[in-house]
Amino acid sequence: MNSSSETIIRQLKENRGRYLSGTAISGTLGISRAAVWKQVNALRKDGYRISAKPRLGYRLEKEPDRLDRELLALNGVDYYHTVDSTNAAARRLAGEPGDSRVIIAESQTAGRGRRGRAWASPPGAGLWFSLLLQPSGIAAGAAAPVTLVCAVSLAERLRSETGLPVLVKWPNDLLVNGRKVCGILTEFKGEPDRVEYLVIGVGINVNQDTRDFPAELRIKATSLRLESGRSFDRTALFLGLRESLEQSCREFFKDGFARFRRSWLKLNGTLGHAVTVTWAGGTLQGTAVDLGHDGALLIRDNGGKLHRVDYGEITREASIQGSGRKPE
Ligand code: BTN
Repeated sequence: MNSSSETIIRQLKENRGRYLSGTAISGTLGISRAAVWKQVNALRKDGYRISAKPRLGYRLEKEPDRLDRELLALNGVDYYHTVDSTNAAARRLAGEPGDSRVIIAESQTAGRGRRGRAWASPPGAGLWFSLLLQPSGIAAGAAAPVTLVCAVSLAERLRSETGLPVLVKWPNDLLVNGRKVCGILTEFKGEPDRVEYLVIGVGINVNQDTRDFPAELRIKATSLRLESGRSFDRTALFLGLRESLEQSCREFFKDGFARFRRSWLKLNGTLGHAVTVTWAGGTLQGTAVDLGHDGALLIRDNGGKLHRVDYGEITREASIQGSGRKPE
């Protein structure tokens, strides 16, 4: 925020509940009314709700919800107001073995989802963060189920924090009532016999309203607030999730995938359903029948043949949990 927009916000707060004329603001700042209009629009993009009326001026309606940066710093979290992508920031921080970091941003300008998709990350309502893990002595194959481990860990914590029936969808989504509430983007660097680092990027829709989602996503996406009818303190929620994730990853690197596989089987909304799997090389239709001990999805095709799927995206052919909503 620049000094002009700071002054505008201060003046609007001092006049809370009243309109303040553009002429008065431009007079204090020594800038044109058109420049005031530009600053107000920038503030709106930053999450401030400011109404404007001809002849009356501007009124502050709502301040944006902000992550508590002081509390985050006290907890050793790297906070950015705006960053390109927390995954990219985590990669830039990768260095000494054994050093793990957590990076969170109020907003991302180049947030990324799986398969090169953009991930919209505006300020004020979601959680956009990445874990940088640099485990020693772990082979790439052994680390492969880490996305499922994180999905289980997040689902368990979100269930206990919100009371919502959060389900895991192979490999990287969390759903509530058939709609996506969270996505995970995991990135590896290393050799087949040694992981140098892992970046686990997590995006969670927390306090969004329906109109906060682009029209094309409204049928597929939801937020914790839309599903539960209440808002959440994003900083507190994040600190709890981070604790669970770090603990789960430690347990996974020490003891393996077995306990997480059992939890995944209990929490999944995938098995037993007709699915289409899509990956770079093609598609496969069948029924999802099991999760392998290494995290692969086992699909029985319509001719009865069993296939292992290590990577890909699945689309369910019927809605989850009888929500009556269109499936993803
Ligand atoms: C997906 O479902 O496609 C994965 C979405 C992952 C989004 C998160 S937001 C924080 C982190 N930074 C990114 O650029 N992406 C991940």
